[in-house]
Amino acid sequence: MSRLTIKEALKEASKELKSYKEASIILQYFLKCDEVYIILNDDKTLEDYKNYKKLIKRRLNSEPIEYITNSVSFYSQKFFIKKGALIPRPESELLIDKALKIINKGFKIAEIGVGSGVISIMLAKLIEDIKITATDISKEALEIAKINAKNFKVNDKISFIKTNYLDNVNEKFDMIISNPPYIAKNFALEKPLSYEPQNALFGGDYGDEMLKEIIDLWVKRKTPYLLCEMGYDQKESMSSYFIKKGIKEYSFYKDLQGLDRGFVAFKGA
Ligand SMILES: C[S@@+](CC[C@H](N)C(=O)[O-])C[C@H]1O[C@@H](n2cnc3c(N)ncnc32)[C@H](O)[C@@H]1O
Repeated sequence: MSRLTIKEALKEASKELKSYKEASIILQYFLKCDEVYIILNDDKTLEDYKNYKKLIKRRLNSEPIEYITNSVSFYSQKFFIKKGALIPRPESELLIDKALKIINKGFKIAEIGVGSGVISIMLAKLIEDIKITATDISKEALEIAKINAKNFKVNDKISFIKTNYLDNVNEKFDMIISNPPYIAKNFALEKPLSYEPQNALFGGDYGDEMLKEIIDLWVKRKTPYLLCEMGYDQKESMSSYFIKKGIKEYSFYKDLQGLDRGFVAFKGA
């Protein structure tokens, strides 16, 4: 193909993606520039058009734009992301809001399934006196979380540990927080989700197995607070489990779409 100007390349990509916005975001990533640069320089030749087209092709194949541009917005901040860690979802911001209402000075927190690190990192950024132990079974996710912690200069407040749940972590905590995998095993995923790590999505045959395991751990470790995200259809199974375990203080919260999305539980010592 002959050489195209930035304007022509953007027009072509917008047509293919049926989205000017996405074509522009990918071009900004490709040229390492902002939108203003593109507007002011759109008559210049786009060098290396072939490689821009490759990125557009990935998007046409339903790959999430966050993996293509290595960037995701969460709690109004930009985090590094790549294939290997779940793309943080806006509804998980609610877990942070709930935690902020509870956390006191000097709290020790454990996050199970830290993924790209967004929850622990935001808490460490927003609260001065806090210590967090963040675990994950995924080496790739932990590497991404460590990059983010360094970028946000909170690496001294968070210990990242590769382990199953809290295995071999013997500290006592004031709070356990988690957004665990909670989708049922045989649930048919849409194509964009197939790019995300499967062990970040599937929580077992019924989907709620990891949530129950985390409740068991919280009880066993005599941790006062437990905050978890869950699936929109898991309120009933979680309530039954709390009742079975003799837990009396718990409440569920909804996401911005009005769907059941998580719970906060408390248990005195
Ligand atoms: C839904 S993702 C949440 C990631 C991140 N906390 C967020 O909210 O974006 C769940 C994470 O739990 C991790 N995970 C799955 N099974 C685990 C286990 N048994 N122990 C610790 N982490 C686990 C996955 O690797 C994944 O990173």
